[in-house]
Amino acid sequence: MSGTFPLVFSVTSGKGGVGKTNISVNLAVCLAELGKRVVLLDADLGLANVDVLLGLTPQKNIFHLLQGEVSLSEVLFPTPYGFSILPASSGMAEMCNLSRGQKLEFLDALDDVEDDIDCLIVDTGAGIGDNVLYFNQAVQKRLVVFTPEPTSLIDGYALIKALKQNHAVEQFDVCINMSPDAKTAKDVFTSVYKACDHFLSGISLSLAGIIPCDTAVRKAVVRQIPFCIENPQSFVSTGMKNLAKIVSEWEIPANQDGNIKIFWKKYLELEE
Ligand SMILES: Nc1ncnc2c1ncn2[C@@H]1O[C@H](COP(=O)(O)OP(=O)(O)O)[C@@H](O)[C@H]1O
Ligand SMILES: [Mg+2]
Repeated sequence: MSGTFPLVFSVTSGKGGVGKTNISVNLAVCLAELGKRVVLLDADLGLANVDVLLGLTPQKNIFHLLQGEVSLSEVLFPTPYGFSILPASSGMAEMCNLSRGQKLEFLDALDDVEDDIDCLIVDTGAGIGDNVLYFNQAVQKRLVVFTPEPTSLIDGYALIKALKQNHAVEQFDVCINMSPDAKTAKDVFTSVYKACDHFLSGISLSLAGIIPCDTAVRKAVVRQIPFCIENPQSFVSTGMKNLAKIVSEWEIPANQDGNIKIFWKKYLELEE
């Protein structure tokens, strides 16, 4: 991330239940271990699960921020794992209805945190609904999660197609989750690659990571502890560390306004 942070990226998918929230939470753990200052935005407005996976109950969310009750730094909820969560399940929809003046005020408040964050991870919902597309067009990079199930392939392709056609997004990073072995994961990636190559022009896809299917995940979910903390030696934790290393080396355009501010500007449709 040298010279290019803060990095703002989504963890997203066409199909639900493919592991986005587990990947977001454990990527946050691993990036924090690499020395990055990470904030995880829980942007699945329907099924906000980040706090459930962490066994935490943040009291304030973006809604309270918009009510003017608290400052942004008070909404950022620290976890015991070296990163913070920005709970957003409530408030994001209201946010788009703010007046231009209120939106600009919110952007001003971001000046205080922009310098303190290296990485903003946006855990989105699944599908091709407006909110998912909106978050994905506002971020600088997108990690699209697939599993070896054909439904995940079809739905993920639909998401890529919608982002390309509606928002001219052309660059995607792919993570294959719940893979029984490396060959299966590579075959899944090849299928996505071929579908994009045949039916959509100008799409660039790279394989960022392969995360194996591992019973350690379910066990950690039940205990509400990130699997990289609960079982750091497991195959799935090793896969996650490799993915975090790749993400930490992503080159992204450095914006004059800062990538976090650009993200909110795009989300709030404040781009000139
Ligand atoms: N690598 C994996 N190995 C085994 N099970 C997994 C793996 N990743 C996710 N899961 C299982 O899938 C379920 C859904 O994961 P979640 O992160 O909530 O998905 P999403 O956020 O995409 O809906 C989890 O409860 C977990 O049990
Ligand atoms: Mg989720």
